[in-house]
Amino acid sequence: MQFQWYPGHMAKAKRAMQEDLKLIDVIIELVDARVPFSSKNPDIDHLANGKARIMLFNKSDLADPARTEEWMAYYEKKGYFVHKINAKRGTGIKAVHEVIRTACREKIERDRKRGILNRPIRAMIVGIPNVGKSTFINSFAKKACTKTGNKPGVTKGKQWIRLNRQVELLDTPGILWPKFEDQKVGLRLAFIGSIKDELFHIYELSILLLEYLNQQYPEAVTDFYQIDNEKNPAKQLELIAKRRGCMKPGGELDVDKAAKYMVDDFRAGRLGTISLEVAEG
Ligand code: G4P
Repeated sequence: MQFQWYPGHMAKAKRAMQEDLKLIDVIIELVDARVPFSSKNPDIDHLANGKARIMLFNKSDLADPARTEEWMAYYEKKGYFVHKINAKRGTGIKAVHEVIRTACREKIERDRKRGILNRPIRAMIVGIPNVGKSTFINSFAKKACTKTGNKPGVTKGKQWIRLNRQVELLDTPGILWPKFEDQKVGLRLAFIGSIKDELFHIYELSILLLEYLNQQYPEAVTDFYQIDNEKNPAKQLELIAKRRGCMKPGGELDVDKAAKYMVDDFRAGRLGTISLEVAEG
């Protein structure tokens, strides 16, 4: 899904989220494992206000596993319960139940001491567009899918999916907005395809992506396109255009078309498992 945010849009989303969060015990935030910083929205931290926090690293099939481990350790230190998944294939999904139980252990214990035994834990999925929220909810709720909607007074108008005896999930995810102020963030979200391609010219985008890959994952480019000795992104694109037969009607190389192929190859994981950010500290 492509998404364009405007200030009005954001204010509305924020208000809706604030209302939903009142009903929630644990927030399950999805980030894209390739960009665990850029796909995380800091505003949710203010809204979350002491609730249990889970961070799921989705699309882990596309990210560099070593970097993902570093990022998981980074966010774990910040108090999140972390776990990596591939929502599309369902990998790691089952274990999310256990993560929820662990994250909510204190609350369950508190309830038990007060004599409250059967109050379900309520969870909600949040994340920026395209991070895989719907895919995750479908996959996670598939087996346990009992919808328990419209409980008067408490959850008016809300649909809940009962996952098991202890946990209910709000069936509509909270949509977070990215950090637009930071240009690097915008660029990385464009690389992974979460920002409209029209905002960046595909040729420029591809050149910048090749620059990054040549530095960080040089073999990803040379192996896949078999262009061993060429390290200049513009020339690499010409070679890719030749290899892929990207020609304009007059016979001139169509480097824009090659750029699109290249960016698509990256997004689909055909260049290998690649991360765009390094965890610091
Ligand atoms: P959203 O609700 O957060 O906006 O995201 P959504 O579930 O619509 O997922 C966005 C895209 O990401 C979808 O691709 C989906 O298949 C893909 N996706 C979700 N989780 C994973 C994952 O763990 N790994 C990979 N590789 N992809 C994932 P799409 O191209 O829009 O649709 P489709 O062609 O896959 O059906």
